[in-house]
Amino acid sequence: MCGIVGYCGNQEALKILLQGLQALEYRGYDSAGISLKSTHRIETLKTKGKVIDLITLITESNIDTKARMGIGHTRWATHGIPSSENAHPHFTDNVSVVHNGIIENYRELEVFLNQRGLKRKTQTDTEIIALLIDFFLKDKTFEEAFKETVKLLKGSFAIASISKDENFIMAAKHESPLVIGLSDNQIFIASDVSAMIEYTNEFIFLEDGDTAKISAKGITIWDKDGQKVKREPITINWSKQTAQKSGYKHFMLKEIAEEDESVRNTIQSRISENGKILLDDEISIDKGFIKNIDRITIVACGTSFYAGLTAKPILEKYTGVKVDVEIGSEFRYYNYIYSKNNLFIAISQSGETADTKEPLRMAKEKGIKTLSIVNVKESAIARMADSCIYTLAGPEISVASTKAFVSQLAVLYMLAFYVGQIKGKQIEKKAKMLLSIPKLIKTTFNNTVEAAKKLAEEYHRYKNFLYLGRGLCYPLALEGALKLKEISYIHAEGYPAGEMKHGPIALIDENTPTVVVAHSKEPLYSKSLSNCEEIKSRDGKIILISDKQADIVDETIKMPEVDYELLPFIYVVPLQLFAYYMALFLGYDIDQPRNLAKSVTVE
Ligand code: F6R
Repeated sequence: MCGIVGYCGNQEALKILLQGLQALEYRGYDSAGISLKSTHRIETLKTKGKVIDLITLITESNIDTKARMGIGHTRWATHGIPSSENAHPHFTDNVSVVHNGIIENYRELEVFLNQRGLKRKTQTDTEIIALLIDFFLKDKTFEEAFKETVKLLKGSFAIASISKDENFIMAAKHESPLVIGLSDNQIFIASDVSAMIEYTNEFIFLEDGDTAKISAKGITIWDKDGQKVKREPITINWSKQTAQKSGYKHFMLKEIAEEDESVRNTIQSRISENGKILLDDEISIDKGFIKNIDRITIVACGTSFYAGLTAKPILEKYTGVKVDVEIGSEFRYYNYIYSKNNLFIAISQSGETADTKEPLRMAKEKGIKTLSIVNVKESAIARMADSCIYTLAGPEISVASTKAFVSQLAVLYMLAFYVGQIKGKQIEKKAKMLLSIPKLIKTTFNNTVEAAKKLAEEYHRYKNFLYLGRGLCYPLALEGALKLKEISYIHAEGYPAGEMKHGPIALIDENTPTVVVAHSKEPLYSKSLSNCEEIKSRDGKIILISDKQADIVDETIKMPEVDYELLPFIYVVPLQLFAYYMALFLGYDIDQPRNLAKSVTVE
């Protein structure tokens, strides 16, 4: 939800800011803007639309492209409609500000400003910050005025601000991510590392309550109590290519193609050749507790929720305990009754999702042992939990989540085996089988990509789809339907196949195709085929994703053979590819679908 970027150094800031904004566009893309600082002057350009629209605006302007310092923003609107006025940066004659988050007490602060004759010109909460800094500048330095302003703010924020008279950026972080990138004679600041990976691998992750002064000469950081602190830099070994399309038309396709690699990176150092799960270093929770876990509660949203749902039977089988999988936005307002030795697991690609973060906070408050499964290093959900197991999927830039899903599954499966191992179960054979999954994902991608494309060409004009599955295929049906609706804007419903006759069957006719996901070794395979018969007798078209051909269906995406318990890793691939090509044939903006943002940091 909104990306911010800042640069100060010996290069022209404009190119770096624009590159950074493009990398951060997944966080919001309804408007964009930059402020550049030249000698005693700040120039700001902003517009409704994407970074590409901002680039057009810049090309047509006389902005000083030689400026060596600046800030930028890409927006996902919360307060105020997407418009050029509401786009960031927000500025006064003296300062300019970009902000990610929500200032909850902005109305109170507005009263304070109005009483002093200062009025907002936009509908945003952020403009209040610029006005406050400017107000305090009357008798304070920029650094002091910024700090004074930040003290008054309530809510969540990552802020960067520049003054026309100073050669440094002031920044503050509270509950929204903010990372400083370190390099010789230049310094970067951004919502995440992908905006800076082109220039550096060394990063300082600011902590909640931190304020920072950043200039090409160095940085000073103060903690929430105003004390100077030293935050240790962390090296992130992502290559520049991980955040680039590398010849693919869209990040989504690139990221589906990277799924084998993502799973390989996630499992290879955590499973030994003889099938032992090596998670001791990452799970700091006492083994005695793990042995006696009596319930696992998984909380997540969207695709991460479906990863939890998919892994539930595997976790239950290998840990021997009941697993609840809950949607974050519901869980946070629900009086969940924990058991005595409950383990709480939060799953999140971004590590920022507010609806997952809040349940995690609540669980911690109750003294429940917590674990998070997160992709983005040092993100809030990663830091908050007692232990975090990172998915090593690399940056996921497409708004539609794909490689994160299979990597989350990999961690959940390893966790199931790990708890089983501690409890003395024989898990080695299955754990070793997991090692063969990356290769199988690659084969699946290669074998199904053309079939998915061909089907999408044929089916992209249909307006409604039903997705059905049983057992391990049921959550995949949900995920397949989610992928289709979010990028192709086609209505799609995922259902457990057995539920079809209790309602959704009414939807079936020649205009509503059904995607059936079924593995021939699944215990209920023949029942899934009976569902296909029922669809056919109502003139419905069927696309079957299976390792076995069936005469009754119209189309089959033939899957490689795989152990039943491991099928989710590969059966999701054609579902993702089908959604991708449907959106491609419909001509939609696949990586940045309308109304969505990748990290949903608001409720
Ligand atoms: C779907 C999608 C969303 C996210 C959800 C949770 O493709 O991207 O449904 O899965 O917003 O996000 P994280 O995993 O970052 O908490």
